[in-house]
Amino acid sequence: MHFGVDYYPEHWVYPFAGTAEEPEARWVRDVELMIEAGVNVVRMGEFAWGLFEPEEGKHDFAWMLRAMDLFQKGGIKVVLGTPTAAPPIWLARKHPEILPIDENGQLLHEGTRRGYCMNSDVYWDFSRRIIRAMATALGKHPSLVAWQIDNGLGGHQTEASFNEETRRDWIAWLKAKYETVDRLNQMMGGRFWGQVVTRFEDVPMPMRAPTLHNPALVVDWKRFCSDTIVAFARMQADLLKELTPDIPVTQNLRALSRDFDHFDMAEVIDFVSVDSNAAIQEKCSQLACEIDMMRSLKKAGIRTPGGDYGFWVIEQKAGNVDWQEVNSLVRPGVVRMFTYQLISRGATGVLYFLWRQPRIGSEKFYGGVLSHDGRGTNRVYQEIKQVGLELKKLAPALQNTRVQAEACILLTHDNDWSIRYTRQPNKHFNQREHIQLFYNALHDRNIPVDFARPTEDLSKYKIVVAPSLQLMAGGEADLLKLYVQGGGTLVGTFNTGLIDEHHISPDSGYPHDLGDLFGLEVSEFDALPPGEENHITLKGSFSATQLHPARLWCDIIEPKGCTVIGTYAKDFYAGRAAVTTHQFGSGRAIYLGSMSHQAFYYDLVVWLRQLCGINPLLKVPDQVEVSMRTDGKKKVFFLINHQNSSVRIPFYKPMHEFLTDKTFTGNYDLPPHGVLVLDEGVA
Ligand code: GAL
Repeated sequence: MHFGVDYYPEHWVYPFAGTAEEPEARWVRDVELMIEAGVNVVRMGEFAWGLFEPEEGKHDFAWMLRAMDLFQKGGIKVVLGTPTAAPPIWLARKHPEILPIDENGQLLHEGTRRGYCMNSDVYWDFSRRIIRAMATALGKHPSLVAWQIDNGLGGHQTEASFNEETRRDWIAWLKAKYETVDRLNQMMGGRFWGQVVTRFEDVPMPMRAPTLHNPALVVDWKRFCSDTIVAFARMQADLLKELTPDIPVTQNLRALSRDFDHFDMAEVIDFVSVDSNAAIQEKCSQLACEIDMMRSLKKAGIRTPGGDYGFWVIEQKAGNVDWQEVNSLVRPGVVRMFTYQLISRGATGVLYFLWRQPRIGSEKFYGGVLSHDGRGTNRVYQEIKQVGLELKKLAPALQNTRVQAEACILLTHDNDWSIRYTRQPNKHFNQREHIQLFYNALHDRNIPVDFARPTEDLSKYKIVVAPSLQLMAGGEADLLKLYVQGGGTLVGTFNTGLIDEHHISPDSGYPHDLGDLFGLEVSEFDALPPGEENHITLKGSFSATQLHPARLWCDIIEPKGCTVIGTYAKDFYAGRAAVTTHQFGSGRAIYLGSMSHQAFYYDLVVWLRQLCGINPLLKVPDQVEVSMRTDGKKKVFFLINHQNSSVRIPFYKPMHEFLTDKTFTGNYDLPPHGVLVLDEGVA
């Protein structure tokens, strides 16, 4: 188990700390305080290019070596970030062509971070040089356990730029994909509004225009930008592997909030790292959903420092953030609670952002482990110290354990881009909300969930949920059929198979390529404004605990072999199928023609549980979040109370608790934000 902080030694030198005689004296105190808190790893360096290379070609890594030496002495490992997230000002002044141009054709100026175009040859070249110099100077240091590539790739909406070099690469990308102009015109549907071209060079980048760009072009542009970001990361990963082959490479990702294919990115790196947004305002199942998505990005070929399975949280909030309108303090016990939530869902490393509130720069009111005063008497430091000590006790029990899920939710970025960036039947439909409804129902019933692309091997899952796969490639449809044929249960929904991978709608009926799987055809779909509702009347074993609305979207379904188990209650499609099931091979394909409220999905999960023989991890009161890690034999359960009041948990058999080393039976009152880590071990 790795436990640590994001540290910026460059912030803590004279005159901001230390003395004129010993400008770096504060670092010694920081190492002491870290050791006292159980810290065994720090991340450093990711914004320090301007200090590593204050003038072109003049390098200074000596200060970082001194910091690494101190950590080495203290038994603390180091992750180094390549500093390409923050180009030095001299570079932008000398080569202004590296600066990104936005969709309005405006130049984004130097002086912050992320100010570069990822298609710039000059930037690639300078990036290679600084990485080579850095790896040569620091890469052999015994404290180094991992590299982080750049920082927050795509952050601050920098996924796309519209520079001339971007246009050059866009054209090359299109040529590689379509080969001939005729094919491009045809596959992109260029004859709509007569937007055909005679040369690849004339295909526009989707810059600001009077109205919408061709949706096929928009989705291709997103794919191209994603490939560009992934290529930039791959260039760094390849270089680092050449220079320091034994050091694994990671990258700090954020839960799918940036427009690049995170599954593709996970293939470039050895292990996934996450910037977690845990703050008290969010629902625990939303955070859990984000964590599970990120854990699921890389399921095989993982190489972490120390050889653990799983992922790291390389930036976990130590306290308040600084980017909301009102940045309230995080209440006592809450940082600890969220740390356990991350670990319970598979994290094998947690580092807090950031060690100490900086006295300089634009993030000075961000909550740190230490406050500005740096004394270590503050509340947050005490809380993190407690976690550090607890994790030392817990680490042996967690060795080789991982999360195992029998349920899976599908997602693809292509589909997400299509829904978010092209004109939709109902703009109030939100794909993330739709996913969350299914996720909440599984999560709140203590059923672990993975996420996957349809192209992964799904055969290990008892249930696969495919919410609104509007854009679906033929190959993906085939794989879903294979899964069901082999005995799986697939839950599909409205807004599926309306277009193929080229953004062309089918002339063979919806859902494209999946009609035989679901045993139906969708002849029309009705969009409802927010607030207007139809209702779903259920029959058979899928029983409703209350009246369930049909909202935002109602498919009008022609059954073609499926069994109808739910119908609409009103309008001209009253009595027509809304929910169906269909035996296909040895499995079944369930179809939900509409979107409902949360209670519908709870009822759905009760039904699916019986249908597929899925058992919840533990039976505990609803308010308690449960997760489990296992090595195949031993099971470690985490029980977390996200509420402000205590919850009584009855234990019907003796359970051993790791943090207190006590055995519980009978009633236990889990305090507000309390955590239990249990096994069924000792009787
Ligand atoms: C992260 C970033 C950090 C810091 C933080 C603030 O994405 O990597 O450097 O800016 O956001 O929330």
